[in-house]
Amino acid sequence: MELTLARVVHVLAVVLWIGGVAMVTTVLLPAVKRFKDPSEAVAFFEQVEARFAWQSRITTLMAGASGFYMLHVLGWQRLLAPQYWWIHAMIAVWGVFTLMLFVFEPLFLHRWFHERATRAPKSTFRMIQRLHWRLLTASLVTVAAAVAGSHGWFWW
Ligand code: HEM
Repeated sequence: MELTLARVVHVLAVVLWIGGVAMVTTVLLPAVKRFKDPSEAVAFFEQVEARFAWQSRITTLMAGASGFYMLHVLGWQRLLAPQYWWIHAMIAVWGVFTLMLFVFEPLFLHRWFHERATRAPKSTFRMIQRLHWRLLTASLVTVAAAVAGSHGWFWW
């Protein structure tokens, strides 16, 4: 019962979080790049990202808490079995986002983006979009592997 509830919370958190990353990557960034006024583009992007950053922080925490709870119930020894490689993939994706949202962003990423985007908006948005595509691809591969793996398909 608790395991099912944790799975429900986990999947809802992942849907909101990775769905948001997909929206930023495929809709927001391409739209912002077409703004005529670069300073307006930077201001609009920062406004939307700031709101999304809070949503991502909450959903990342929910995904991590429910994920580690499930791992505790199902057994930590899974981390040692090669057929559960997709659990390592989930933890790796979660770790990258957690570092970015809770450490890098408040410490320096936000300031760095603002300064660079004000100086060179085009190349900064290109770089940000490349980064978002990489994160989105890694996240989607992980979602596919986690669904397949947790339903018995291990590619093994
Ligand atoms: C701290 C990080 C995480 C931990 C410890 C964790 C752990 C788990 C565990 C133990 C399961 C259940 C496996 C099973 O039933 O055999 C699971 C399922 C799943 N996780 Fe994670 N996870 C984490 C992060 C993520 C992330 C970042 C994603 C997406 C990118 C993700 C997507 C999924 C999906 C889609 C399922 C399958 C749900 C299903 O089909 O039943 N998880 N996770």
